[in-house]
Amino acid sequence: MEIIVTKNFAEMSRVTANLAIAQLHKKKSSVFGLATGNTPIGFYRNLVQAVKRKEISLARATTISLDEFARLDPAHRGSLFYYMRTHFFDKVDLLPKNIHMLDGCAVDLKKECKRYERLIKEKRGIDWQLLGIGANGHIAWAEPGTSFTSRTQVLDLTKSSRQAQLKNFKNLKEMPTQGMTMGIGTIMEAKQIVLLASGEGKAEIIARALRGKVTKEVPASVLQRHPRLIVVLDQPAASKL
Ligand code: PGA
Repeated sequence: MEIIVTKNFAEMSRVTANLAIAQLHKKKSSVFGLATGNTPIGFYRNLVQAVKRKEISLARATTISLDEFARLDPAHRGSLFYYMRTHFFDKVDLLPKNIHMLDGCAVDLKKECKRYERLIKEKRGIDWQLLGIGANGHIAWAEPGTSFTSRTQVLDLTKSSRQAQLKNFKNLKEMPTQGMTMGIGTIMEAKQIVLLASGEGKAEIIARALRGKVTKEVPASVLQRHPRLIVVLDQPAASKL
């Protein structure tokens, strides 16, 4: 594992964007696995600027997002599709046919999860997977206790995951109780994984995930077993390593 400790959020975002840009230079048709949350916002901003300055083009790239709410209109401002559109998709030259999200409004959600697994296989896997980490150690919405071999699935969201999303909903009642997420087994098959964390609030869980025992109770700890993991932290997030 390679750990890069940066000064602050801005530098963490810049360094991570440069990693994605290097991947794109290596392979223009790269398949990027993408995450939402507060942590990657600066990363997306840097990539958008690079596209606007014509340093890169995403016209041949594919994106496959990690997760989505079940039974939420994708136009709702709390949906992860809405997040991806406003922070990234609408601002870059990705082709709509190359943008992939889980459809939380599919009639049969289990079938939709199977479709996603097939899609990833058809694309010959994810080249470059971006991940954040929850304060409880989750990656995507794979919560503590999730099997390391799990595949894309529908699951009940934990209280802490729902609380973390509350700002985009009127109240908890308006928010779906279930989400759909790539499985840990699915994520671990990505050829390169880049894990991001920012702020003191993540220091404890980063230390447990990277230096502690590999356990289902800390889903991110499985990343210690990935052959190509880069962790990009700001100083506060790295302070307990
Ligand atoms: P955050 O979320 O970037 O908003 O902290 C990370 C996550 O829950 O995976």
